[in-house]
Amino acid sequence: MDRNVVLTGNEKCLDQDDIIVSKTDTSGKLTYGNRTFFSFAGLSESECMGKQHNIIRHPEMPRCVFELLWRALKNGEELFTYINNLSSNGDNYWVLAHVTPSTNSSGQTIGYHSNRRAPNRESLNSHIIPLYNELLKVERSHSSPREALSESSKRIDSILQDKKMGFNEFMFSLGV
Ligand SMILES: Cc1cc2nc3c(=O)[nH]c(=O)nc-3n(C[C@H](O)[C@H](O)[C@H](O)COP(=O)(O)O)c2cc1C
Repeated sequence: MDRNVVLTGNEKCLDQDDIIVSKTDTSGKLTYGNRTFFSFAGLSESECMGKQHNIIRHPEMPRCVFELLWRALKNGEELFTYINNLSSNGDNYWVLAHVTPSTNSSGQTIGYHSNRRAPNRESLNSHIIPLYNELLKVERSHSSPREALSESSKRIDSILQDKKMGFNEFMFSLGV
């Protein structure tokens, strides 16, 4: 994705029966995408294969969400999370993603896999967008990227502690 892409503010919405699928190797480089993946990303298969999955990263996604994602994957766990993604023309598309390690018959992680579907609009508007905006605000109030990530991670951890929930449980409590 061209890092200088100008955000349009236009959201593309998934249909209820759309499923966006992608797979990566253990370093997060894309090894597979379905047709819906390329169509929403606005990129061709050859533009994506072998590239890091952050090729569709939206600049308004809080970094701490991806930290939680990678922490879960490295622990061999799955994660459900809302993600705002970027299309090559500057549009965005919100998804509810399930991301999980793929294992071989000996239980070894050989890559990662994600299926995404249309988000629950009410959860998105009343909970997720305000939460992500709060986390982004924390991140943007620190000039050091390391501090920004550390502070927003503390904020999400404290929100989860108050709710006595893990991240997946929290996502499900919002009515995915
Ligand atoms: C299977 C899988 C699916 C992922 N899906 C997305 C996605 O849809 N959007 C996204 O921005 N990052 C996704 N990521 C996370 C990216 O690898 C990366 O951590 C994220 O885009 C943040 O990039 P950055 O660290 O360069 O800021 C996925 C990672 C894996 C392993």
